Amino acid sequence: MQHTGNTILITGGGSGIGQALAHRWHDAGNHVIITGRRRQALDAAIAGRPRMSAYVLDVTADDDVAAFARQVVADHPSLNVLVNNAGVYSAEKPTAQRDLGAAQRMIATNVLGPIRMIDALVDHLSRQAGAAIINVSSGLAFVPLPGAPTYSASKAAIHSYTAALRPLLAGKVEVIEIVPPQVQTELTPGQSQDPDSMPLAAFVDEVLALLQADPTPAEVCVERVRYFREAEAKGQFDQALQMLAQYS
Ligand SMILES: NC(=O)c1ccc[n+]([C@@H]2O[C@H](COP(=O)([O-])OP(=O)(O)OC[C@H]3O[C@@H](n4cnc5c(N)ncnc54)[C@H](OP(=O)(O)O)[C@@H]3O)[C@@H](O)[C@H]2O)c1
Repeated sequence: MQHTGNTILITGGGSGIGQALAHRWHDAGNHVIITGRRRQALDAAIAGRPRMSAYVLDVTADDDVAAFARQVVADHPSLNVLVNNAGVYSAEKPTAQRDLGAAQRMIATNVLGPIRMIDALVDHLSRQAGAAIINVSSGLAFVPLPGAPTYSASKAAIHSYTAALRPLLAGKVEVIEIVPPQVQTELTPGQSQDPDSMPLAAFVDEVLALLQADPTPAEVCVERVRYFREAEAKGQFDQALQMLAQYS
């Protein structure tokens, strides 16, 4: 992936990891477009940044995504990088019958959201020089958190989808996965103050340093997430699962 001169679209760019990446890419000389559902958060994220733009978009809405894709390509024909970062998390107790609203929301946002965004923009991206699709998964894609089974499954699905897409788009669009560990954002209330979560700035620094490698790595795994990414290959899956079960 080239590091400057891109036009980068980041879903969920009004807060957390998306916003931090947006600001760092903008500082590096890229045009950055952010989307999300909250206008106020988007306006705050682009304030004082002339080469940033924001659009309100709910990635779970089929018609809105299709209309948005037409508009953003018309407004920014040089768009060459799509970052599927928008995501939601809910803890769950699947051991007794319950309301499945949260599970449905996670699948609609974390799985169908990126699939829908890619579908809407893949033809355009395939025609661009230096094109890339970057999907944000999670360490929980590789060892599930028992207290968040649908979230973990949604991230395992996006890992698999990303891997499948990579050879199909080879030579046209680079397909990259960012695999965050637990990071200090408000993905869950109070997590941005949690000393056991990785500080956001340190996470983004490490991600951007890994993205500088040539060729770009297919998976961007910071040091803190390697234990989970490699657990199965190293025969440590059961141990890692038991460890996560204690937090459930
Ligand atoms: N922080 C962690 O520990 C961690 C670990 C592993 C993976 N991740 C992943 O990293 C990504 C970013 O999360 P974060 O930690 O930065 O949390 P965050 O600050 O809550 O960011 C999530 C973003 O997604 C947007 N979003 C949620 N639902 C949406 C929808 N239906 N349509 C459009 N945008 C939507 C939110 O904006 P609006 O509310 O304005 O729509 C928000 O800006 C997520 O995919 C998350 O699963 C995070």
